[in-house]
Amino acid sequence: MIDRAEIASQYQQLFGGEPRFWVRAPGRVNLIGEHTDYNDGFVLPAAIEREMVLAVGPRDDRMTLLRSLDYPHAVEFDLAEEIERAPEDPWGNYARGVAWALKEAGYALNGFHGVGQGDVPIGSGLSSSAAIEVAVALAYQAVTGFEMDGVTAAKLCQRAENAFVGVNSGIMDQFISRNAEAGHALLIDCRSLDYRPIPLDTSDAKIVIADTAKRRGLVDSEYNARRAECETAVRILGEHLPGITALRDVSVEQFNGLAERLPEITRKRARHVITENDRVLRAVDLLASGDLQGFGELMNESHRSLRDDYEVSGKELDAMVELAWKQPGVLGSRMTGAGFGGCTVSLLRSDSVEDFCREVPKQYQAQTGLEPSLYVTEAAPGAEISSQ
Ligand code: GLA
Repeated sequence: MIDRAEIASQYQQLFGGEPRFWVRAPGRVNLIGEHTDYNDGFVLPAAIEREMVLAVGPRDDRMTLLRSLDYPHAVEFDLAEEIERAPEDPWGNYARGVAWALKEAGYALNGFHGVGQGDVPIGSGLSSSAAIEVAVALAYQAVTGFEMDGVTAAKLCQRAENAFVGVNSGIMDQFISRNAEAGHALLIDCRSLDYRPIPLDTSDAKIVIADTAKRRGLVDSEYNARRAECETAVRILGEHLPGITALRDVSVEQFNGLAERLPEITRKRARHVITENDRVLRAVDLLASGDLQGFGELMNESHRSLRDDYEVSGKELDAMVELAWKQPGVLGSRMTGAGFGGCTVSLLRSDSVEDFCREVPKQYQAQTGLEPSLYVTEAAPGAEISSQ
């Protein structure tokens, strides 16, 4: 839980006075549309009620000084100098990366000092890193006083992650953290970056996230391997479909006609991405017409596709999803995020939440020996600045 009083008191002790601004940026859960963002496709994430909060004040010099209630060390760097990655300082590097990307884009940044705290679980695939990046970008915006639209901000934060931190992620996580709307998921077109809020009526159904407690060990190398396999698929399919630049451009019908031309692994990867894009668009229509059952079935199909074709699930994620599938009142359940560990997302009837939260962890723990964490969440608002 975020303790704003403690953040303010630390701020007072370290820097004196009250923070001038508070910024917050949420983590996210993706409802459907997995491994589609870097294929120029569609995603449907929502922000969660877990976030990064920073209390900040401007400085007269060009230093950035950050303390976090979650880490013992301070992050400190000078905007007047070249910003470099610090070894062994993940959280600091997200902040440095954002400063680097903003500077590179031509923003003359003011220094700031601040105290932060986050309650997005780290390493669980709920985008704690995107939350830090988006919060830091907003902190610079607040203390420097420039306007920046949410799409540009998301792109710069993604650039920080890709080019500075060195993780080759797509745009989804930063985009939803920055641009989410309360009570809505966002349908994001990851090519045009157009987006549309899709109302999530949570009176009948709730989103429950289950952290498998399995850390996502293989994720970076496997993630890069999947990206490369998708590029191979585009190259081969492009011999028959001139002009395509991403798997987004291939319809399910076109794929079915050409699938035999692809080597097996490439075929499976492409089939996941192409059918997943199709599922996202169908899922949005089902949500709009109030068909939660149909939406849930697409979540289940998404999981099977990620498990069998994209091969990014794992025994813990599968175990959690299968337990959810057996539970009364569950409309749909799937792994969410990059995979190999981390979390599942389930949609379930509101009156089944209590039983689910009691039974699923018990059975999962008996089966795997791991102690899971469950979070029931509403779709939270996107990142914000508020003045003191
Ligand atoms: C990670 C990446 C996202 C996205 C998902 C998979 O969360 O950061 O950009 O690719 O994996 O959908």
